[in-house]
Amino acid sequence: MKFILGVVTTLVMIAVMATAIITSGWVNVGADHEHSPIVYNLIEKARVNSIKHASQDIVVPKLNEPVMISEGGADYKDMCASCHLSPDVSATDLSLGLYPKPPNFTDPNVVSRFADDAGAKQGFWAI
Ligand code: HEC
Repeated sequence: MKFILGVVTTLVMIAVMATAIITSGWVNVGADHEHSPIVYNLIEKARVNSIKHASQDIVVPKLNEPVMISEGGADYKDMCASCHLSPDVSATDLSLGLYPKPPNFTDPNVVSRFADDAGAKQGFWAI
C-alpha cells in the first residue's frame, strides 16, 4: 500500500511541476535565448531519432543524374544557400543569426552524414 501511495504521490508532484513550468512562462522559447546543454541535447536527440524513424520508407531518387544535379544546384542557390551557405559564401546574416544554427553544407564533415542510404533518406525527409 505504501508503495502505491509513493508512486501516486510522485506522479502528482510531477504533474504539478509540469503544470507550473508550462503555465508560468518560466521557459523562454525565444530563438535568441539558447537552451541549456541538457535541454538542447534532449531536443536534438528527439529530432535525430524522429527523422531516422520517419524516413525509413523514403525512396530517394537517383540524385547523381546530371539533370538532378543542375536543377538541384539552381534550387539550392535560390532557396537554401542563404542559410546553409555555398562555396563562395562563408557566412550570411541568417547563417549567423539563427538558433539552432543551420548546418553548413559546404563542410564535408556535415554532408558526410547524408552519404549512405540511411543518411540520404534522412536528408531527403528533412527537406
Ligand atoms: C531560413 C534558413 C533556412 C533555409 C532557407 C533552409 N534551411 Fe535547412 N535548416 C535550417 C536550420 C536552422 C536547420 C537546423 C534545424 C535544427 O537543427 O533543428 C536546417 C536543417 C536542415 C536539414 C537537416 C540537417 C540535419 O542535420 O538533420 C536539411 C537536410 C536541410 N536543412 C536542407 C535544406 C534545404 C535543401 C533547403 C533549401 C531547399 C533549406 N534547408 C533551406 C535553416 C534553413
